[in-house]
Amino acid sequence: MTAAPIIRTQNLCKSFRYNSFICKSSKGTSPLQNHVLKDVSIEIPEKSIYAIIGQSGTGKSVFLKTILGMLKPDGGKIWFKNTELTALKQDELMALRKYFGYAFQNAALFDSMTVGENLAFPLKEVLRIRNRGEINRRVSEMLEWIELPGIESKRPDELSGGMRKRVGVARALVMRPEVLFFDEPTTGLDPVLSETINNLVVRVNKELNITCVIITHDIPAAFRIAQRIALLDQGRVAAEGTPKDLAQSEYQMVRDFIRISFRELDV
Ligand SMILES: Nc1ncnc2c1ncn2[C@@H]1O[C@H](COP(=O)(O)OP(=O)(O)OP(=O)(O)O)[C@@H](O)[C@H]1O
Ligand SMILES: [Mg+2]
Repeated sequence: MTAAPIIRTQNLCKSFRYNSFICKSSKGTSPLQNHVLKDVSIEIPEKSIYAIIGQSGTGKSVFLKTILGMLKPDGGKIWFKNTELTALKQDELMALRKYFGYAFQNAALFDSMTVGENLAFPLKEVLRIRNRGEINRRVSEMLEWIELPGIESKRPDELSGGMRKRVGVARALVMRPEVLFFDEPTTGLDPVLSETINNLVVRVNKELNITCVIITHDIPAAFRIAQRIALLDQGRVAAEGTPKDLAQSEYQMVRDFIRISFRELDV
């Protein structure tokens, strides 16, 4: 049984103008467009783990940023449950931001703040909680949950890379969002740390009942933990379905991409 979609995109399009250097060297007067997303339509089932995979530069991060409202699409629609996000005004969109958390590869912690202050930040700024006791309680509960209890007073540069990553996830989780987006959470980590982060994604999903959308280059992990996977290729959805659907895709390109991704592990 597939749950109702919590997020749905319909024919999402996004282009960027090439920079002026390239424009000047091109013929014609109209600016050259880099069409990054071309009619991307997907449905993310509620409370699932949904993976987005594909080659570098194919539009995965742009897709996520468009859903999160960081980039404005040129065309198409985005829904969060029954609300069409693309029809909202900026302030209405901001009011829905608390339902979305994100942990990006480069979403650095604020180095000038302690871990506790980093986690308190979204509680104060987004949820507007003013009660210090409640803020402290929620921060310490979250740190316990990621199995790093009592590190409130540490500074990010005192933590290992893996710890920083987990604190980044904790900061995204402390607001208890309904959907948590991860952009390459394991890139650059060793295999053991990658496994820790993949297990954390599964725990977020199972224990906290949060829908997780994960962009990853770790294809075997995507096949292991995700209920559904979308393969983006040059801004289009080349394949979408359960891991089994993708493995048995009628398209040679999809099967090749998966086969090569798994084979890279054997070197
Ligand atoms: N803010 C931006 N302005 C202009 N072009 C952009 C912008 N963001 C992304 N692009 C372009 O969009 C295309 C897709 O980029 P995107 O970051 O989505 O790729 P990706 O699939 O996430 O790749 P990777 O796996 O390497 O992270 C690239 O050609 C990139 O240069
Ligand atoms: Mg990316």
